[in-house]
Amino acid sequence: MDIQLKNINYKYNEGTPLEYQALHDITYNFPKGSFTAIVGHTGSGKSTLTKLLNGLLIPSSGNLRMGNRTITPHTSERDLKLLRKKIGTVMQFPEMQLFGQTVAEDIVFGPMNYGSSYNDALEIAAEKLNTVGLDSSYLEQSPFDLSGGQQRRVAIAGVLALEPEVLILDEPTIGLDPHGQQTILTLFKEMNQTLDTTIILITHQMEDVVKYADNVLVLNEGKILTQGTPQEVFEQDHLLQKAGLDVPVIVSLAREMEAKYNFKFTSLPLSIEALTEQMAHYLLEVADEQNN
Ligand SMILES: Nc1ncnc2c1ncn2[C@@H]1O[C@H](COP(=O)(O)OP(=O)(O)O)[C@@H](O)[C@H]1O
Ligand SMILES: [Mg+2]
Repeated sequence: MDIQLKNINYKYNEGTPLEYQALHDITYNFPKGSFTAIVGHTGSGKSTLTKLLNGLLIPSSGNLRMGNRTITPHTSERDLKLLRKKIGTVMQFPEMQLFGQTVAEDIVFGPMNYGSSYNDALEIAAEKLNTVGLDSSYLEQSPFDLSGGQQRRVAIAGVLALEPEVLILDEPTIGLDPHGQQTILTLFKEMNQTLDTTIILITHQMEDVVKYADNVLVLNEGKILTQGTPQEVFEQDHLLQKAGLDVPVIVSLAREMEAKYNFKFTSLPLSIEALTEQMAHYLLEVADEQNN
């Protein structure tokens, strides 16, 4: 489903002395099937934005078009409920919300809540467990006997069990070891490519942005600082650094080579592969010149 945000403002505690405007005039599109990374400082409004996308909050002004529905400051709770089934959210540390005596109990909860029979829900549970890399022998285990990484996968399987069209991931790999992080992000990328699931990933890992995202939305103090493809956004590394944000290590390295050694890149490399390719090309040219 296509998501279009138009002039969204969001104020917490509106009309009280504690009023605080967390989002200012956000206009942005998440095309169907896109993989968008949202980056920004703590407090920049990332989580608030995701709560507007999954119907936990409604805008103070402006509107969101999600598929064929429009959410305005006046949208009712009942309309939001219909939408929530289509939007899956993996919160930060989702394993903290596991509650079942068994893994099965945890995963069948969502589908049954939306009207599936127990047997159908159990079938879905086994399938989604498989998707996250755990076999069905885990169904009967207590989630609390599993490792942290396995618990995280069970929690994710619970979100996938609703077969959402849009997946919102709020730092889904925080606290996992590097291998576990890449396994989970690869899983989401595969869903994006094979099922056309729209993915919205909040992350502080700029390397992951380069590796997985098609688009990047940069928030700063509740406003859009910049947006575009990873290439377009990281070429504005000065702007990002001024806002106190990281850039991929390779970008810093490339900038250093430009500044200190006058190295000319045809396009700013974002990955080790892109950097080595351009350097190899350059070195071969130099060797060629010396031979002639
Ligand atoms: N429930 C709330 N009540 C009041 N202010 C809030 C609430 N939740 C978040 N905020 C404020 O809104 C701003 C954006 O927060 P948040 O969306 O959580 O940012 P991020 O996810 O980028 O760290 C912050 O200044 C935060 O303090
Ligand atoms: Mg947050």
